[in-house]
Amino acid sequence: MVPYADFNLLRLPNRDAAMEKIRDLTCLSDILPTGYHGAVTAGVGPGSTVYIAGAGPVGLAAAASARLLGAAVVIVGDVNPTRLAHAKAQGFEIVDLSRDTPLHEQITDLLGEPEVDCAVDAVGFEARGHGHSGSQHEAPATVLNSLMGVVRVAGKIGIPGLYVTEDPGAVDAAAKQGSLSIRFGLGWAKSHSFHTGQTPVMKYNRQLMQAIMWDRIKIADIVGVEVITLDDAPKGYGEFDAGVPKKFVIDPHNLFRAA
Ligand SMILES: NC(=O)c1ccc[n+]([C@@H]2O[C@H](COP(=O)([O-])OP(=O)(O)OC[C@H]3O[C@@H](n4cnc5c(N)ncnc54)[C@H](O)[C@@H]3O)[C@@H](O)[C@H]2O)c1
Repeated sequence: MVPYADFNLLRLPNRDAAMEKIRDLTCLSDILPTGYHGAVTAGVGPGSTVYIAGAGPVGLAAAASARLLGAAVVIVGDVNPTRLAHAKAQGFEIVDLSRDTPLHEQITDLLGEPEVDCAVDAVGFEARGHGHSGSQHEAPATVLNSLMGVVRVAGKIGIPGLYVTEDPGAVDAAAKQGSLSIRFGLGWAKSHSFHTGQTPVMKYNRQLMQAIMWDRIKIADIVGVEVITLDDAPKGYGEFDAGVPKKFVIDPHNLFRAA
């Protein structure tokens, strides 16, 4: 009865084992493959140094994916102190972009050098500026420009963060049409590769399901999955909008409670 269900549903081999990890498995529908796609397209591999912009669910999923792919160190940046504290508690290094210390200096404090091998934009066009006053305002090109600044020569930048063709509420006339002030010459001069677009979820979801089933990734804890009823959905949306370090999973049929 569901169009294309035979095409895009994922079969879980063992129902009982799957129900034990159902909080984690819910993340396969979007954020985990998206974060993973960001890390893969940023070229993360064994020993990589990685910077992830954004400590929301997608950024944390990218950070967890970078760890799964063998990164030596994963740094997560945000302007939201609660989300940064959560990222730190999950074992990631953090940079606080609401501070006036520039990103490359905070990276130098952690790595001893001002650059990383790979970076992921898990923020998109709703990015805030950097620094104490900048972070109070939307500045849609901030993340892309800052990533070109800190990624090493010939490095890759994965961009799962959303950019749009129209943004009626944008800060200026150009941004209203999705035109941002990108310092593309810097990316050219550093021979960067950029990878954008919607995530091909089905390219990754079966393998990520196995990684969950075999305890290679604790994604529900890392993104802060909290299961709520349908009645609590408006409250969940409100809290998420306010920037809590959680990913709400709505359980309209009490499947989780039954499990
Ligand atoms: N490509 C895809 O298929 C796909 C799929 C799902 C989500 N997305 C996109 O991924 C992005 C992230 O999703 P989410 O659910 O984690 O969003 P979110 O809004 O919960 O998280 C974004 C985080 O970025 C932080 N932020 C703002 N400005 C910043 C800056 N300059 N530097 C660092 N962090 C900054 C915010 O404080 C917030 O915590 C969104 O743009 C979303 O639309 C893309």
